[in-house]
Amino acid sequence: MGCPAGRRGTATTCRHRQTGTIAALNDLAEGSDGVIGFRIGPSPAVVVSSAATARDVLIERADDFGRGRRQTRALTPLMGKGLLTSEGELHTRQRRLVLPHFSPRRIPRHADAIVTEAERTVRRWKEGAEVDLVAEMNALTMDIVTRLLFSASTRENNVLARAITEAFEWEMHAITSMVALPMWVPTPRNLRARRNIATFRQWIAGFIRQRQARATGPADPSAPGPAAHQDILDDLMAARYEDGGTMPDDLLLDEVLTAWGAAQETSADAQAWTLYLLGRHPEVRDAVRAEVDTVLGQRAVCYDDLARLPYCLQVFKEAMRLYPPAAVIPRQAIRDTVVGGRTVRAGTMVFINAYSLHRRPEVFPDPERFDPERFARERERALPKGAYLPFGTGGNVCPGSHLAMMEGHLLTALLAQRVEVELLPGATEIRPELLVNLRPNPGVPARIHHR
Ligand code: HEM
Repeated sequence: MGCPAGRRGTATTCRHRQTGTIAALNDLAEGSDGVIGFRIGPSPAVVVSSAATARDVLIERADDFGRGRRQTRALTPLMGKGLLTSEGELHTRQRRLVLPHFSPRRIPRHADAIVTEAERTVRRWKEGAEVDLVAEMNALTMDIVTRLLFSASTRENNVLARAITEAFEWEMHAITSMVALPMWVPTPRNLRARRNIATFRQWIAGFIRQRQARATGPADPSAPGPAAHQDILDDLMAARYEDGGTMPDDLLLDEVLTAWGAAQETSADAQAWTLYLLGRHPEVRDAVRAEVDTVLGQRAVCYDDLARLPYCLQVFKEAMRLYPPAAVIPRQAIRDTVVGGRTVRAGTMVFINAYSLHRRPEVFPDPERFDPERFARERERALPKGAYLPFGTGGNVCPGSHLAMMEGHLLTALLAQRVEVELLPGATEIRPELLVNLRPNPGVPARIHHR
């Protein structure tokens, strides 16, 4: 299939029209040695798209960098002191507490809940329905994250669902807009955001209180029963610091909101891009179908099937190579230091540009080509360290990466097995747009056929 958008290429090659920030960053990276200095207004900044320098910034010289004031200011009203904003001792202590609950050993128990939510979404789609895949994947990952975190749902609660969406929209505005005023300034936008954030936080605080009451109070027959499976809130409430203490309530709330914020939209964007790429590349889609039809037939996928569905995982990985949801990882130098052999002053913003890093032609030949074979086991093993960073690396590497990969693997298999996604003509105009994450803009219009 040819590429209707932008420059045309080989059968599976598609060079998108890129606009806005991601295009500017990619243009800067092309032909460079992977380290480019530029200015944001009066402030110096550096963009990194070389594997060695990315590792240097994120691992070897990590102590010279913080997250960046802008990101922290934008995330704090919603996520408080959770893992995406904390630094130093608190960050180390919290990571130690939280990480074991997202280890490869702990995540398989979440597979059935993911499959159940995805099957529900598929059943909701009417034959021939026209949908926006970005909106659909957002709704699905919202269902999944609410189920995995506290065994709940937002589907029947429009007020809450809107408050959550708007709370994240404020955060996005605060990160991406040059003129975002801090939350304490009582603009109409900020006042609305404060109300939405309060609604969201109170809802989650309610789950924490319910469980504490259940653990300490007399048995109340009208209280909600225990969750069908131990959810992530249960895990975090039971987690113990080295001194035997549990997380204080405010920090628990912050970590739950952080996990939500970090997990939901990233996963939605990754899945929307995967479906989009499969829609554009029927030969890859047919290979995925052949795999799922052989391994699963008509029955529902489960965790134990994943080892026999390697191609589905390769497809998901390749989609995240071309469109890494966290396309740019920001850092800010907290002291004078060196980036790629250049001295940078304290305060300099450093952007690890995964989008361009994943397009280095010496690592990924013909980089615009959608080619899941790049992630066949032996070829993936041969990739240089730091060349593929959808989850970052070093002391802030994504704690949810195993869960995210399992979810992406299951959803890729399940959706290919259950539906045929026919991209509609509007899908030819899609561009990757860097908001907080890399999103297909303005959406992915598609028609759903049940298989
Ligand atoms: C496809 C899905 C996902 C992608 C692409 C992704 C990507 C990333 C990246 C690149 C970072 C590193 C940021 C940095 O170095 O500053 C990160 C951090 C983080 N992610 Fe994910 N993530 C995904 C899913 C998840 C899930 C499912 C969870 C948890 C349930 C999660 C929780 C977090 C947290 C808490 C952090 C902050 C870690 C820290 O700074 O110590 N993420 N993620």
